[in-house]
This record gives sequence, C-alpha cells and structure tokens, in this order.
Amino acid sequence: KTLALATAIGLSATTQALTVGFAQVGSESGWRTSFSESVKAEADKRGITLKFSDAQQKQENQIKAVRSFIAQRVDAILIAPVVETGWQPVLVEAKRARIPVVILDRNVAVSDHSLYLTRIAPDFEVEGQRAANWLTEKTQGKCNILELQGTVGSSAALGRMKGFNETIAHFPDTKIVRSQTAEFTRAKGKEVMETMLKAEGGGKSICAIWAHNDEMALGAIQAVKEAGLQPGKDILVVSVDAVDDALKAIVAGEINVSVELSPHLGGPAFDVINEYRAGKKEFDKWIRMGGAVFTQENAAQELAKRASK
Ligand code: AHR
Repeated sequence: KTLALATAIGLSATTQALTVGFAQVGSESGWRTSFSESVKAEADKRGITLKFSDAQQKQENQIKAVRSFIAQRVDAILIAPVVETGWQPVLVEAKRARIPVVILDRNVAVSDHSLYLTRIAPDFEVEGQRAANWLTEKTQGKCNILELQGTVGSSAALGRMKGFNETIAHFPDTKIVRSQTAEFTRAKGKEVMETMLKAEGGGKSICAIWAHNDEMALGAIQAVKEAGLQPGKDILVVSVDAVDDALKAIVAGEINVSVELSPHLGGPAFDVINEYRAGKKEFDKWIRMGGAVFTQENAAQELAKRASK
C-alpha cells in the first residue's frame, strides 16, 4: 500500500523513506550556499530526509558528523570534504556499517577507493588551466600576478593551482609574484589583497589577480578600488565558480573571467544512491561535471538565462 502511494505521488521504490546524511564544508562562499540549497531542494523533491551538517570549514566537525550519521544508521552519506587527507578511518567505519558514501566536489586522498561509490566533481586542474589560458592570451604572456589561494590542503586549491601554474610555466614573462590563502572567503580575499597591494607599492606593477574562487575575487576588487585602481582594467581579475555576483561584476567590467563550477551536484548524487539501492555495485570512481567560461561576451546572457528559470 505504501509503495502504491509512493508510486502514485511520483517517488521511486528506491528513494522512498530514504534518509541521507550530508557532511558539507560550510558556508564560506556563494557557490557553497547554492550547492547546499540545491542538495536540499533535490532531497525535498525526491521525498528524501536529509540530515545536513555544516562543518564551518573544519574537517574534525565533518568527521564527527559522519560518525553521527553512522550511529543513526542513515541509508547513505554524502561528503563534500574540506581537505583531501585524513578520511580513511571514518570511511572504513562507514563501510563496516554497510553505509554507501558518495564524495561530492573536493576529493579524498585514500588508498582504498572501494571506501566510496564514486566522486561527483569537476576537474579542478582544468579549471586552473582555463583561467590561465584566458590570461596568457589576453596579456600575450606578460603578466605579474597576485594569487589568492583557497583553503590549504583542499583539492579545489591544489588542483586549480597545479593547472594554472603548469599553463603559465610556458610563458617566462608571466609570474606569480605573491601567493597566499584567503580561505575561499570574501572578507579574507579583501584583507589579503590589501596587504599584497601595499607590499607591491600600491599595485601599479601588477597585471592580474588570480583568485581560486569568485568570493575572494569579489573581496579583492574592493581592495583594488580602495587602492585607487580600477579592477578589470588596471588589474585584470580571473576567478572560478561563475556565481551570480561574479557574473554581475563581469557585466560591470570589474571581473574579467570566471570559470563555471556547477553547484547542482545533488541530483547526480541521489541518482547514484538510487542505482546502488537498485543493485548496481560498480561505479566510475569520478563522474566529471563540466562548465562554461564566462567573460564580458556571455555573462549578461547567462544572468538572463538564470533569472528566467
Ligand atoms: O570546492 C569548491 C570551492 O569551494 C568553490 O570554488 C569555492 O567557492 C568553495 O568554497
């Protein structure tokens, strides 16, 4: 009778009455907030009970949350890891409890990949390469760069840095002159950029800011303005995520390019859990998400498209 009712209201047999725990990084950026909202909305749509934990950018909080999900015997666990290392023990605990785990967004560095079903994520190295390709083309390979790194030890920061650095290595006159973490937040992005610009004598010799995410780029453009320079013109601004605020800044000419990272990871994650419950046991270990590159050519069009949804 319950199954008939569930079917009648559009819930599949595999998702009905499911409880899923989600260990999220935090709410450090607009992208992260959209990602959390999208997972919550997708769970609601599918009739899934979501137990959501915001770790406030601390891995120890995430590990505690995962242990609590295991104790509550949830049906599946989603983890968006803060950093890559330190996951093996708690993933072993989940496996022993026969609770499937799906990794979202950033990666985990584990030796046993059977500890999770799959990881749904973009290619962070490619994001860094795309940002660098745009910049080296724009500047004909001559540029002094200030880099705002994301969270130290996170695969988003590590991958973006690698992809960007390997690309600019082909251009001897393109150099990162200062690089520091601003933890993926707007406030730190501004603060760190203020310090960097002062250390660079006001920033006149700086050609570009490379921020590992939009939130830090948005903070940095404030610092550039307060230093009396025009972001997007005197200093180019290159970043990742393509959140609405960044697209608006592109339209205003203050950010030059943002590489898109889709926040819509919940749908594919719940699909994987459904397939697992329906009997599929082997998954590709990486389900790659793609994205566009937004510049002044296409940002306004994208904003209009998003607003019409
Ligand atoms: O892990 C993805 C990164 O985390 C996003 O680019 C950033 O905005 C977030 O905080």
